[in-house]
Amino acid sequence: MNDGNKCRIVLTRTFPSPLMELVHDVAVCVVNPDERTWSCGELLRHAREHAADALLVMAMDQIDTALIGDLPESVRVIATYSVGHDHIDLGAARERGIAVLSTPDVLSDAVADLGMLLLLGAARRAHEAMQLIYDRTWTGWSPTQVIGRDVSGGRLGIVGMGRIGRAIARRARHGFGMAVHYHNRSRLAPDIEDDATFHTRLDDLLAVSDFLMLAAPATPETRGLVNESSIERLPHGAIVANVSRGDLVDDEALIAALRSGRVMAAGLDVFNGEPNLNDDYRSLPNVFLQPHQGSSTIETRLKMGRLLLDSIVRTRAGELVANRLV
Ligand code: 8YV
Repeated sequence: MNDGNKCRIVLTRTFPSPLMELVHDVAVCVVNPDERTWSCGELLRHAREHAADALLVMAMDQIDTALIGDLPESVRVIATYSVGHDHIDLGAARERGIAVLSTPDVLSDAVADLGMLLLLGAARRAHEAMQLIYDRTWTGWSPTQVIGRDVSGGRLGIVGMGRIGRAIARRARHGFGMAVHYHNRSRLAPDIEDDATFHTRLDDLLAVSDFLMLAAPATPETRGLVNESSIERLPHGAIVANVSRGDLVDDEALIAALRSGRVMAAGLDVFNGEPNLNDDYRSLPNVFLQPHQGSSTIETRLKMGRLLLDSIVRTRAGELVANRLV
């Protein structure tokens, strides 16, 4: 393709190698070479200097009202390398007629796999068990050593039955024989509900959630959903996992419950203030922590990139693509 016809993209972080080659095939691109997030000023400067058609951004970039208001006229597309879009002001983008694209579907399996890892890591006390090996304090097998809880056959409550929630439900039910309960804005159609039990009220879901999985997007309604009073509704010694956003959790309340044993353990992949998570998590033995790794497999990261590049090109050609949010 002649460079003159190519899309002009500002890419806010470097992609894994095979994807970078694809980016350069389809676009004339300015790439952030550093392992840090650009400031709004830097992002705007690159968009202006490059006369960008599209911004390809990450979940850590804050694409707020002010930034969207200051974008040059050339920018017609904002594509986020994530399914979550709480970092983008969709209303402001809509007002300026800028299309916003995301990566639904292609990452659901990877995130759901990680969700199961969190449940298993928390329930089987993987952090404490691994510590015995790394600290050289393991003195040999014992009948009382690091005793966890069965995930298999347990009761799982899922908050948010979108694509990721449903992918977790499938694994939990068909792989682990769990009884799946869920709370969602609306009840799923019977053909996709797959015998999961719907709870209209979050409180009713919490009451049966020996395992609680957060898979709902961060919105004003879900913010701080795990808090002192909701924790009180959980069965004693419940296990909490989060593959959504840190915003859904009141850290102080969860940490207090983990300390007291009210919540037995937590498996967390996402945090408030990433990467500066609440330091108290680091001193708790009963947490299994991952640094926002949900979609981090090479297969999934390639699919996410291909989807976005293809949909940027098609949007630029006037097509209405399925992964367009506004
Ligand atoms: C996460 C994500 O890795 O796409 C997103 O918005 O944050 C995912 O890729 C996952 O939701 C956290 O486990």
